[in-house]
Amino acid sequence: MMQISKDIRYIGVNDHAIDLFEGQYIVPNGMAYNSYLIMDEKTAVMDTVDRNFGEPWIQNLEAALEGRKPDYLIVQHMEPDHSANIDVFLSRYPEATVVASAKAFAMMRNFFGTDYSCRRIVVGEGDTLSLGKHTLTFVTAPMVHWPEVIVTYDAYDKVLFSADGFGKFGALDVQEDWACEARRYYIGIVGKYGAQVQALLKKAAGLDIQTICPLHGPVLTEDLGYYLNLYGIWSSYGVETEGVVIAYTSIYGNTKAAVELLAEKLEALGCTVALNDLARCDMAEAVEDAFRYGKLVLATTTYNGDIFPFMRSFIDHLTERGYKNRTVAFMENGSWAPVANKIMARMLENSKNITYCENNVRILSALNEESMAQIEALAQELAG
Ligand code: FEO
Repeated sequence: MMQISKDIRYIGVNDHAIDLFEGQYIVPNGMAYNSYLIMDEKTAVMDTVDRNFGEPWIQNLEAALEGRKPDYLIVQHMEPDHSANIDVFLSRYPEATVVASAKAFAMMRNFFGTDYSCRRIVVGEGDTLSLGKHTLTFVTAPMVHWPEVIVTYDAYDKVLFSADGFGKFGALDVQEDWACEARRYYIGIVGKYGAQVQALLKKAAGLDIQTICPLHGPVLTEDLGYYLNLYGIWSSYGVETEGVVIAYTSIYGNTKAAVELLAEKLEALGCTVALNDLARCDMAEAVEDAFRYGKLVLATTTYNGDIFPFMRSFIDHLTERGYKNRTVAFMENGSWAPVANKIMARMLENSKNITYCENNVRILSALNEESMAQIEALAQELAG
């Protein structure tokens, strides 16, 4: 059992059996569903775990309780990776009270057919719950990542229970870089809601936080400024790393040869380049790159009078997450009537604060002197 402080214990679980998190994200290092127990005059459990882990979670809880009973179950977020065992918990501990926002109770009615009206406390912004020494303050965090979300501040241990905020992919028994999988998680799952994350960060700035206990990923205890700074960049759609992302599709290798030539020229000019073949890479990784770097080149073929499907899907992923504040260039390939650049530009027309490059590229089937000259000009413009 992991001890977060003298009174706070980790009782979460690691999932290495999952194929796709939230039905779409590959998680090569699994996933952690975090849950915590606060031991005081009263005891409080922070969230439950995924449905497949009810039994090991209850075992962790029982071991941490050391013979005591839980008084409160605090539900910060109703997505099933955290809420699936609410009913299991409340059936097992009939004297426990469930604490959540009004919106969360409405969701419980939809998920479980009951909103536990005879054994609940409804909390909203600034409400508190005293456990003894530990007084919990609830802070609403709508759309981080669902509308009912609350986060919880324990002033005694200076801990912020941050729900999905500051979470990442990956189980806790695997060591890996935090930022890489936290960024892919954030951009993929919360990316659309930057404004709401900014609002939460503003509220958090008024608190003395020494530990962040998220619902996924490791408990954060040191150098919190590092994590807060990254969250500040991501949620304001800022550029984290200078560089050029080239996202492309290629049917017979000619578009691939063109983007490789561009990458070579950019690297020779000193640029960092991230090359993503959208038909073969992890789409979430390519989306993450587009939000990480400041410049993006989209290269695809004209296909069925439209663009190649992986590119359409990629641009949809960007626009639905509020892609903005970037420099964008287009490269198209077409053997008889190339229209891809026009279609890609149209797909981005509602994206805010995009600077379009002047030197776009048109390839007619395969590279020739003219298209190679366009690539040279684009490389110079992007590197400038
Ligand atoms: Fe980890 Fe939005 O659930």
